[in-house]
Amino acid sequence: MRDKRVIIGNWKSQMNTQAIDEWFRIVSSIANEEIHKRHLSFEYTEVVICVPFPYLSQIHGLARTLPFPLHVGAQDISPYGPGAYTGAVAGYMIAQFASFVLIGHSERRSLFGEDESVLEEKVLQAKAAGITPVYCVSEETAPIPEEVSIVAYEPVWAIGTGKPDTPENAQNTAHALRERNTHVTHVLYGGSVTGENADEFLAQEDIRGVLVGKASLDPSLFWEIIVHAVE
Ligand code: PGA
Repeated sequence: MRDKRVIIGNWKSQMNTQAIDEWFRIVSSIANEEIHKRHLSFEYTEVVICVPFPYLSQIHGLARTLPFPLHVGAQDISPYGPGAYTGAVAGYMIAQFASFVLIGHSERRSLFGEDESVLEEKVLQAKAAGITPVYCVSEETAPIPEEVSIVAYEPVWAIGTGKPDTPENAQNTAHALRERNTHVTHVLYGGSVTGENADEFLAQEDIRGVLVGKASLDPSLFWEIIVHAVE
């Protein structure tokens, strides 16, 4: 894992079962054609797609039909274990279908009021269930729980705005995050990543992958970003 790049798509609260079938049909057909033609190797890259809970099972099945390994991720996890927690989705349930989970995304922090203590509980639940947490922060001084090894640096003003951070600033922040948190092996960049700018971020020494929102909804755009990591 240490040497690998990590490309993560985040569909947020979007997509439906039909659109998902179509997304997989398109990714599968492009990948089948290009993997061979362009000699693409997935040995040093993990590709993950983080999806809404109701689709985890469908995507777990569809992922196996692709000609490259696609890991399934959730976008949230209960801070509690199993029990009387109406509406909550516990780690062991997610672990049946997914191996990654986003924790601390800025939308969860700002719109759902999640604070550091609840995020820490979520990380512990993910680890207990054997799920890899991807912990999102917006600045280098953000506290990061000890158990976290993958961090996504996503400046709030770059998310969904079409205005990404500069690769230089993202590199400096990634470097600072790694210096401050020696348990972190991977810092990803997220915020308005596209097929056009992904390679500039991936070229930075301390940036080991990207977290992609909007562009991951479009199968061709997401594939373009994957290709930058595996080519
Ligand atoms: P964006 O979202 O790529 O649409 O900016 C990134 C994110 O929220 O993870």
